[in-house]
Amino acid sequence: MNIDAWLGEAKKQIDALDAEIIALVGLSDILSSEIDRSFLCAHAEMEIPQRSLQKINQMLERRAAGEPLAYIIGEREFFGRMFRVNESVLIPRVDTEALIYLVQDLDLPGRPRFLEIGTGSGCIAVTLALEYPQAEVLATDISKKALEVAELNDVIHEGRIDLVESDLLENIDPEMDGNFDVLIANLPYVNPDWEWLDLAALQYEPQNALFAEEGGLALYHRLLQQLQEKIAAHNLMHHAEQDSTKLCHGVPWIKYLVFEADPCQHDDLVSLAEAYGWQLDIIEGYGLRFKVKQ
Ligand SMILES: C[S@@+](CC[C@H](N)C(=O)[O-])C[C@H]1O[C@@H](n2cnc3c(N)ncnc32)[C@H](O)[C@@H]1O
Repeated sequence: MNIDAWLGEAKKQIDALDAEIIALVGLSDILSSEIDRSFLCAHAEMEIPQRSLQKINQMLERRAAGEPLAYIIGEREFFGRMFRVNESVLIPRVDTEALIYLVQDLDLPGRPRFLEIGTGSGCIAVTLALEYPQAEVLATDISKKALEVAELNDVIHEGRIDLVESDLLENIDPEMDGNFDVLIANLPYVNPDWEWLDLAALQYEPQNALFAEEGGLALYHRLLQQLQEKIAAHNLMHHAEQDSTKLCHGVPWIKYLVFEADPCQHDDLVSLAEAYGWQLDIIEGYGLRFKVKQ
């Protein structure tokens, strides 16, 4: 079978662009140099070798059954760079790039310190490390398997982040880990009761990366609570008065929070954060940035 015939058949079953990507991934194995979509047009009559044909047919079958393309080819682009993914991590979404813009919009010190909670593939933490070559980046996840993927992506992109297994802030210590300029979190926030939800489309992704209780805000609630508790415990150790967002010496442990949530949750998330001493700074798409209340 030649490329043109295969694409013709595949495009009857799946999205045209997905079919071309699958063909390219299948063929790139047997061709030494990097090829792009123009190769498919230019070599439409080329016979597909049997080994590649078998491979691309299997990928086509998986895609036609509904599996996301990113899991089939093992990667997804985020902020202009490719990140490895597998079924242990959420597939990076374009909406999440808003969180990077919300950080970039800040006036940060020369060596900013970032803390990411729930790093998954590591796409946010690794992107921040690359965008801020002087930065220190600490990233956590509750899932060991997700941390393995984040580590792989960190190595591929030059190995600059530190990774810690932790239930939210459980294993993060203001004394040991120091202050952070920004805490970034794209925690699971999907409310399983949303009527518009396409559960079939989400079935391939890890459920603990998607869903949360309390209308989807349970994890953000617990994170805000933990933040307050960590600061209170630190201040108690130093016999200082309790302030919900500041350490005993009057400086914030964390200056800014950057969260992602569905726009329908923004009002509730803003009220929740305000109750814990955080003031809304700006909203950009799915992203919200908070600062310590003055
Ligand atoms: C929505 S995904 C975001 C992944 C990645 N940061 C991104 O933006 O593509 C949420 C991540 O939070 C992690 N997670 C869920 N519950 C957690 C918890 N209690 N503590 C830390 N991480 C958690 C999941 O394993 C998952 O990797």
